[in-house]
Amino acid sequence: MKDFEYYTPTRVHFGKGAVDQIGALLREQGAHKVLIHYGGQSARRSGLLDRVEASVEQAGLAFVSLGGVVPNPRLSKVREGIDLARKEGVDFILAVGGGSVIDSSKAIGYGIPYDGDVWDFYAGKAKPQVVCPVGAVLTLAAAGSEMSNSSVISDEEHGLKWGLNNDICRCRFAVMDPELTYTLPPFQTACGVADILMHTMERYFTREPGTALTDELAEGLMRTVIASGRKALQVPDDYDARAQIMWAGSLSHNGLTGCGTVGDWSTHRLEHELSALFDVAHGAGLTALWGSWARYVYQEEPARFAQFAVNVLGCPNDFRDPAKTALLGIEAMERFYREIGMPTSIRELIGRSLSAEDLDTLADKCQARNPDLGNFKKLDRDDMRAIYQMAEG
Ligand code: NZQ
Ligand code: ZN
Repeated sequence: MKDFEYYTPTRVHFGKGAVDQIGALLREQGAHKVLIHYGGQSARRSGLLDRVEASVEQAGLAFVSLGGVVPNPRLSKVREGIDLARKEGVDFILAVGGGSVIDSSKAIGYGIPYDGDVWDFYAGKAKPQVVCPVGAVLTLAAAGSEMSNSSVISDEEHGLKWGLNNDICRCRFAVMDPELTYTLPPFQTACGVADILMHTMERYFTREPGTALTDELAEGLMRTVIASGRKALQVPDDYDARAQIMWAGSLSHNGLTGCGTVGDWSTHRLEHELSALFDVAHGAGLTALWGSWARYVYQEEPARFAQFAVNVLGCPNDFRDPAKTALLGIEAMERFYREIGMPTSIRELIGRSLSAEDLDTLADKCQARNPDLGNFKKLDRDDMRAIYQMAEG
């Protein structure tokens, strides 16, 4: 088991009606003027924004609103938010939405007190020292941004999708009411399930020995998300299924399932290039790639994949041949992806095959951004290209 630090400062308010405390929570945080940041239409349509605004007003706080965040959130919207927040004297940002809205809020939070351009942080030209604080009302269990130290922003002008990890951006609080996720289209529920699983899997596929407790936590989380995902897709307003998924989403990306392991974020990094190039949903990009990554790397330590197959997916264990069990597990995972309507190839994801030029672009960009990718197996530029090619389908 590797030495680790575990820091997870976000205060969680979980359960039915939790949204109605939002005004009080903002006051507790010392907010005076709040930027309410949201996405397209879902939060307005469901009446959630009205509830949030009413609670903020009731607490005697001023607010301004900025909607229009799209999936794979854009740098231009972040810049718009920074300008508005400065002009209005905003001192707290409330994200109402999924990962894209929370990430956009975090980026605005970095940008408000900074003299230069916020992209400097994402490009690694500067390191943020202070932020305007962020809190979240979560409407989609998926990215885990409500408890993570990450934000991922797309510079649409240059075709870049880059992440930034820094503890200072972590949400001060996260309000999580599973009922808010009843309105999700099945595709978004499935993308969320896929992303939550992948945040756990990227930490689980480790070659670090002695991680028994973390393994048990991760395996239990993954089994629960698979079972609850099936349920929520059948019965969208099954509270308990939605609740398991929502809590798992946070635990899968707040560091808990990575304590003592050495993660391998290859599938995520390969996916970010796909969504930068084709603007696809992150969860669907992950399932299109994962089986190919897994087949490319499993022979480094088949026993780890065999453990996943048996303990998470219930595959029979062939003790004489861990590689065989490993492959059964990869196939079972892909069957689950298909069952919940997720693609298992890039062709299914984008509706066409990749050109040789696409493959080169993807591999070059991924390598440039991640010169030292992979831990389970190190991946150089040609490995990356080979995985994209295998994933074509
Ligand atoms: O814009 P609206 O109308 O709200 O619709 C959204 C959006 O179209 C809809 N939606 C959200 N809540 C809903 C709802 N529709 C009905 N009912 C609700 N309750 O869902 C669509 C997708 O939303 P989005 O926020 O984009 O999804 P997600 O939470 O999956 O976030 C994806 C982004 O997060 C990044 C991804 O790369 C991607 O850009 N990630 C962020 C991470 C982090 N900060 O820690 C880690 C992840 O690995 C990931 O990379
Ligand atoms: Zn993810």
